[in-house]
Amino acid sequence: MRKRNAFPGPLDEDPVIGGTPVRPVVVPLDDRTVRIWLKLEAENPFGSIKARTAAALLDALEESGELRPGLRVVESTSGNLGVALAGLCRARGYACTLVVEPSTPKASVDRMIAYGAEVVTVREAPGGTTLDARLAAVREILEQDGGAVWTNQYESPANPGVHETHTAAELVEAAPEGGYDAVAVAVSTGGTLAGVASFLRRRAPATRIVAVDAVGSAAMGGTPAHRPHKLAGFGSGRVSRFIERHHWDDVVRLRDADAAAACSRIRERTGLSLGGSGGAAVLAAVVRASLDPTLRELACLCPDSGDKYPRLNENVPIGDPAGTDETVAAALDLLDRASTEETVNA
Ligand SMILES: Cc1ncc(COP(=O)(O)O)c(C=O)c1O
Repeated sequence: MRKRNAFPGPLDEDPVIGGTPVRPVVVPLDDRTVRIWLKLEAENPFGSIKARTAAALLDALEESGELRPGLRVVESTSGNLGVALAGLCRARGYACTLVVEPSTPKASVDRMIAYGAEVVTVREAPGGTTLDARLAAVREILEQDGGAVWTNQYESPANPGVHETHTAAELVEAAPEGGYDAVAVAVSTGGTLAGVASFLRRRAPATRIVAVDAVGSAAMGGTPAHRPHKLAGFGSGRVSRFIERHHWDDVVRLRDADAAAACSRIRERTGLSLGGSGGAAVLAAVVRASLDPTLRELACLCPDSGDKYPRLNENVPIGDPAGTDETVAAALDLLDRASTEETVNA
């Protein structure tokens, strides 16, 4: 399926990206109260952390001379990167083609089209993942259109690079005295985790790094499996090209259904709307805190808000609650005690 709008030409200027807020949420555990500092990346232009990635990918191609006026930007996206690329391409005067999949939120596709991008939706290839199908479509476009340039979020060093120089630096600047005991980051391409980890290892070596992946994702080397309730931007059908063993201390693997349950509990208790990957990061932080008594101050990257995901706003459980692992179920119960105010003393 191909939807195409007329190429609008340069209209706006690049918006200011970054400087997103960090808000503490308090979770009373049985033996101590932990604070979880949420970096709310939905406050970026285009509504997600991917504004940073999109700008960095385009900057790198412009600096190398590969991307010039008159050329077309092509990318495979689960949604957020596509919205940001569409907006920035409009501002910078490039045509843009985005390859998405059926799980990409309709609200994101609508925004890409509104910014003038062409959107191609692929279905899962037999025997392959939806990501394989998206990448095959990107290659086909590159073969057919000599003026098309792939930003390649899966391999460009600009992806982890911007999270090292900007996202992580901002997060550390907002840390409480003594810094964070642990930082949890959900993975898809792994660019955010690799960049944040590179910064933390140099500047905050005592901070534990928690990688958060989806059950059924191959991002951290797991066996890819069908994910009936797949959350956009959480996990991946292929191994991350960026994540190396020294980038993480702990991995927490969560079912999509449990990440979604975390989102609704966080929203009910704190009023904060988080997308699936942010909910997964917070749930993983509580899982780790419940297993490690040394953790008191934790941080989570929250890549986007839950607003554009209808399933996260329906208050109807996704999937089978009986399939939840015991430690994760206990962490979900702890989230029922979360608040934005420090009403319980450690
Ligand atoms: C909502 C959301 N969360 C998390 C991520 C993962 O970030 P990364 O690709 O840097 O691993 C993405 C990436 O698309 C995303 O859209």
